[in-house]
Order: sequence, then C-alpha cells, then structure tokens
Amino acid sequence: MAKPKVLFICSECGGEHLRWQGQCQFCREWNTLKEVTSFKSATSSAGPRKPKKLSEITQTTVARLTTGIGEFDRVLGEGIVPGSAVLLSGPPGIGKSTLLLQVAEKIGKKNPVVYVSGEESEEQIAGRAERLGIKADNLYFLAQTDLELILSELAEMDKLGLVVVDSLQTTTSENATGSGGSPSQLKYAAAQLTNFAKARNVPVMMTGHVTKTFQIGGPKFLEHIVDVVLAFEGDKFSSLRILRSQKNRFGATSEVGIFEMGKKGLAEVTDPSAAFLKHHRSSPGSALMVALEGSRPLLLEIQALTSPTSYAYPKRTTQGIASKRALLILAVLDKYGRLNLSRSDIFIKSSLGMRVFEPAADLAIAVAVASSRLKKPLPAKLCFFGEVGLNGEIKAVTGEEDRIKHAKKLGLEPVTSTTYPIITDLLANLFPQI
Ligand code: TYD
Ligand code: MG
Repeated sequence: MAKPKVLFICSECGGEHLRWQGQCQFCREWNTLKEVTSFKSATSSAGPRKPKKLSEITQTTVARLTTGIGEFDRVLGEGIVPGSAVLLSGPPGIGKSTLLLQVAEKIGKKNPVVYVSGEESEEQIAGRAERLGIKADNLYFLAQTDLELILSELAEMDKLGLVVVDSLQTTTSENATGSGGSPSQLKYAAAQLTNFAKARNVPVMMTGHVTKTFQIGGPKFLEHIVDVVLAFEGDKFSSLRILRSQKNRFGATSEVGIFEMGKKGLAEVTDPSAAFLKHHRSSPGSALMVALEGSRPLLLEIQALTSPTSYAYPKRTTQGIASKRALLILAVLDKYGRLNLSRSDIFIKSSLGMRVFEPAADLAIAVAVASSRLKKPLPAKLCFFGEVGLNGEIKAVTGEEDRIKHAKKLGLEPVTSTTYPIITDLLANLFPQI
C-alpha cells in the first residue's frame, strides 16, 4: 500500500499544495488550505524527472475490467480502467444506485467490492439488492457519510475490485469547509476519493445528483478532478434510460448505453430502434427520424401538435429539441409551405425523453408540424432526416449513409436531401391538399 503523506488541500477547489500558504495558488481563495493525510497520487511520481522523447516512452496497456453489462462497458470504452475515478451524475430517482449496485454485483463475483452509501441504511441496500436478485459473496455494504471514516475502512480492505460511493452529496469531511453538499465539500470528497483510486489502483465510482443548483456549477466543477464523467438521463414518464459519457480520459465520449428500468432493475436494450418501432403507430403530428447518438443510429419520433391560439402571441413550446432551430423551421414552413402557422400554438417534442439537438432533426420537425396542422398522418414507412436551410432547401447531414442503412434495416424508407432537395416539393408530395 502507498505510504500516506501530508498535503494541504484547498477546501474551495481541491487544489493540492505541499506546504501551507495563506492563499490557494489555484483558485486564489484565502485561508482555505487544510492539512490532510493523503495517499500519494500514483500519476505524479515524486522527485525530479527528465523530459523523454515520444519514442522512448514505453506504453503499458492496462487490462480493463469488464462488467459483462455490454451497454455499460461500451460507454466507458470497453470496460473500467483500474485506478480510475468515475462520476455518475443524474437527477434523483433516475437509477444511479440501481445501476451501480448491478455493476458492483458483476465485479463482486471476482474481487471484493465496497458499496458505500450515505443515502440508505445497510438494511435498505440489502433489501434492494435482494429485490434485484443480487448475489455476490464479495459485496460489502457500508452506510457511512464521514469521508475520513470511509477512507480508513477502505484502507483495511485487500484486493479491492471496485469502490462505489453513493453519493458525493452525502459524503462530508471536517477537513473541508462548508456544509454537506456544498461545492467545497463535493470537490474535496471527489479529490480524496480520486487520490485513493490512484494510490490503490482501484476504480472508484461516485454518484452525484444533478439538481438545479448542481447543474449550474457542476458536475462541471468536478470534471477536472475525476477521470470519467457519465450522465444518466431519461424521461420521468418513460422507462428508457440513456447513459452518456461527458468526459473520458481513457476513451471516446461518443458512445451511449441504453437501458430499460423494470421490476428487476436495469436491463440492457441492445436494439432500441426495433423495440421502438414495434410499438409505433403513425398518427397526425408524428414523424420518424434516425438520430445519431455518438456513432450509434437510433430511430426516434418527433411529435408536433398545433392548435388554434387564444393568445395575442401564439405559443411555441419544445421539449428535447433545440427551440431556436424549431423557430427557424416554423418560419421556413410558413414561407415555403403555405401552412399559415401564425394563429396556432405549436408544441414539438422528441420521443422517449431523448434530446435531439442535431440539425438532422429539422426535416422530421418540419413534416411533423405540417402533418399536425393538416391533420393528416405521414405514411408509416417513411423516415426523415435532413437539415432545413433558410431558403427552404434540404441539406445532407453527417452520417447520412449510416442513417440510411439503419432505416432500411428496419424496413423503412428514408427521405433525405437526395430524394427531395426542396422542402416545397416534399410537402406538396406528402400533402397534395396544400
Ligand atoms: P435509484 O437507483 O434509487 O435512483 P437514484 O439512485 O438515481 O436516485 O432508482 C430509483 C427509481 O427506480 C425508483 O423510483 C424505483 C425505480 N426502480 C425500479 O423501477 N425497479 C427496480 O428494480 C429498482 C431497484 C428501482
Ligand atoms: Mg440513489
């Protein structure tokens, strides 16, 4: 085990100093340095070092720990890197604890895993584990909120495979300023747990609630401390959950994992498009599109609703899509589609609580609005993607080939800039009455 050493850590930003000083050299706050006993960071070897040429550096490939939960491993870049600090952020109730408990079970089949919870008692976690059918001899639970006590318990454990800390908000230290959950406490806990991960070469996964205040400051303010930031998202009213990587020191951030929350916890959804299409019925205001989530094509529905307004200024409401883009498309529809939208309230949303901010969604938004306004459903086999220009032209989008392939695989007919370069022609063909 690495030898503990004395460090001075800023309680505001978590910056490390070798000796005490009045002002933090990182965030310039005064009187925030606190003496702590810390594990030496494995990445910053002590002593003077000489610069090396690229050709002189030998790379060691680290074996990643795979959980066997494919959708989870994929987002991390084919498994967990030993010694990495991972932050899993998401709104309360989305399923962070459930996901990490399931991950803990998998790793706990081989090596000891400690699941630290400051949110629930040991009995509560055990109850949840039982409901989920979790069995792992090597899974230890610790209900503790005191960071120093957590670290000292962890120091006793041998051959650790994984540490889960649920959550950062409930982990407090007397060495940091502020009350539990304050930015200085969060940063300090994240920094100390990251140090532990490096010193012991054990992955540490921490959860962080995204609340209104946390979203403004963070998890951005924790991003530079940890190695990987994952965001768990989803719609309250849908059981689908999306795991995205926002930062990954060891891999790409373009992969997403898709899960469904059920009675037995989170289940992987390996073919979300096919699952979605099975339940889809075409109705006025609904248009299918193929979105690209990282490198992964995904079938989605854009829904629009237009209704006569009773306001002086008609309302435009969007959910899960970029509102400025939507306004631009409505202006194009008004001018080139002869739809007369000026006296209609318009609501546009993406399905399943997905966020589709890419320009490729333009065309599906346009035809969904037209379909609702004209009360005519779109042909069920059509699927739309293309960027809509200010002059009513339809433009090609990134990954078009992949999207086309995906649509065809699902038995759908893609409508793109190649099939219709001008939106007026497309609308005239879909809706002969205008
Ligand atoms: P949880 O993992 O506690 O969320 P978080 O840690 O992000 O706050 O999950 C909470 C929700 O998930 C809760 O509303 C109940 C639901 N749930 C299921 O639907 N099925 C399950 O098997 C479990 C464990 C939870
Ligand atoms: Mg939880």
